[in-house]
Amino acid sequence: MPSLIVMAMIASNKILSTSLFVRLSFILLLNSVYTSADFPCISRRYAEESIVCVCNSTYCDTLERIQPQCNTYNMYTSSEAGSRFLKSEGFIENYVTADYEEFDRILELVPNKHFQTILGFGAACTDAAGLNWLALSEKAREKFINTYFSSEGNEYSMIRVTIAGSDFSPSPYYYNEYPENDKDLTNFTLNCPDVSYKIPMIRAAMAAATDEVLVFGSVWSPPQWMKWMNNDYAISRLKSEYFQTYADYYCKFAQLYEKQGVPIWGVTTTNEPLDGAVIKIPFQTLGWSVQKMGQFIKENLGPTMKTCVDKPIKVLAADDQRLTIPLWFTGFGDIDPELMNYIDGVGMHGYLDSYVPGDIIAANLKNYPDKFVLSTEFSDTSESGINLGSWRKGETYIVTILDNLVNHYVAWVDWNMAVDLQGGPNWAQNFGDSEIVVNSTSDEFYKQPMYYVLGHFSKFIPRGSKRIDVIRRTAVKVDVDENNIYSSYPDRKDVYDHVAFLTPRETVVVVLANYEEDPQQTALIIGSRQITVDLEAKSIVTVEFPYYC
Ligand SMILES: *[C@@H]1O[C@H](CO)[C@@H](O)[C@H](O)[C@H]1NC(C)=O
Ligand SMILES: *[C@@H]1O[C@H](CO)[C@@H](O)[C@H](O)[C@H]1NC(C)=O
Ligand SMILES: *[C@@H]1O[C@H](CO)[C@@H](O)[C@H](O)[C@H]1NC(C)=O
Repeated sequence: MPSLIVMAMIASNKILSTSLFVRLSFILLLNSVYTSADFPCISRRYAEESIVCVCNSTYCDTLERIQPQCNTYNMYTSSEAGSRFLKSEGFIENYVTADYEEFDRILELVPNKHFQTILGFGAACTDAAGLNWLALSEKAREKFINTYFSSEGNEYSMIRVTIAGSDFSPSPYYYNEYPENDKDLTNFTLNCPDVSYKIPMIRAAMAAATDEVLVFGSVWSPPQWMKWMNNDYAISRLKSEYFQTYADYYCKFAQLYEKQGVPIWGVTTTNEPLDGAVIKIPFQTLGWSVQKMGQFIKENLGPTMKTCVDKPIKVLAADDQRLTIPLWFTGFGDIDPELMNYIDGVGMHGYLDSYVPGDIIAANLKNYPDKFVLSTEFSDTSESGINLGSWRKGETYIVTILDNLVNHYVAWVDWNMAVDLQGGPNWAQNFGDSEIVVNSTSDEFYKQPMYYVLGHFSKFIPRGSKRIDVIRRTAVKVDVDENNIYSSYPDRKDVYDHVAFLTPRETVVVVLANYEEDPQQTALIIGSRQITVDLEAKSIVTVEFPYYC
């Protein structure tokens, strides 16, 4: 099967100008060597436009990344039509100007112009994720962890964990709920979710991962006794006498997790603080004004996190939609520049990204070159619950991740690692979709297009990779309207279709998207080398090749 694809690719790519047979047999040889390690996707089609890959206790599709050989490139494709990490490879050509008019786009890579350095990719360990994982048999749980974290899978290196519960819990709960008004948190202990699934899941991930897993925690709400509330709990504020108690709440969590073998790398300053301040959200929230949040970070959370455990814990501000970045970020600096010493990075949620162009990031970070920005939460909220096999949702991830990486994000962390067939559990009925959906009755889990989309980035862009510049050269004959080339996203003027990195593996990695209903041909040019990439209709492609040869 892969050899046929390579042949088709060669036929259409004009790679072979001279000795077809010699080069073809060489490619077939290489190809047969490295595909043997992969188990293919066992596909299943539900109602939607694309497929899921079915995994169980004895089977799950795998992908081994192969270091590309000199003068060759490796290419991986996932598409609406059903390709999943489809591998192929080809030869790097000498750059030929005459071929220009043949291409839908020509991208010139500029590897000596660097931007942000990547920290990692990952997803969240919520109660929904943990309970669904636990509902699988032991063997299926192992496959689940490997497919996310190991060298057979997406190689995630970051996890966001909820500090106590969120809406994706069977019911709301907190640490130290009793006794009330307990300023010293004398009854702060790990609870059943921590012991039975959250810590075991994170430890299994750490053991399977190919890099250090950076774990960061977010609080949705502290126990009710720390807050002023309106009657239905939706709008609330921290009582001033508990500012340090709330900081200690984070610290005790970090200490207990570290004792259980899960060091906490970072904490966010409260999940979506705007939800509990101005918007009525029907689940656990804690609202903050900019001024009070600034005071809390400078006087309580910041100093506490520096000394709570041996290594200072990173403080990630905002943890909210990026339209709030001027409020939570430049706002702090204007109030009190000293406060910025206690902020390491800024966590952004991607739900409103289509309304807020990504240049808001660069505009707000320009005065703070030592602060990094990362995505701490995203999911497709276009409908309630799951939609098995939706390519459209996968494409929402392509658009969002490309946008975020182009706009200097150093990490991208998805929401729930798993949900059930209803899109939960979620006590507030705020059901959602996920990269993996678990069917506990059949002891199966379904890997959605969103999983593969993330893998196209996470597996090939390891920690330490640097984003490099890409110049789009207008094709001579192709009619490219730079402002609105993507018919599927008429409302967005800033839909990106590529991003490129230089990796610590001494390779160049380019991720390309085709949002169109037709196949596309792209030329990648780097110095005197050229790669011709054929993209299936509605697809995402990762190309990797050696930087030096
Ligand atoms: C798991 O899936 C594989 C591949 O579809 C199948 O051959 C096998 O029978 C399944 N195992 C169980 C326990 O259902
Ligand atoms: C401590 O917390 C537990 C629940 O985790 C509760 O059952 C117990 O009553 C609490 N102790 C006090 C003194 O409130
Ligand atoms: C989940 O598994 C059960 C039992 O095998 C099966 O009847 C059901 O159709 C499955 N659900 C989905 C969405 O595949």
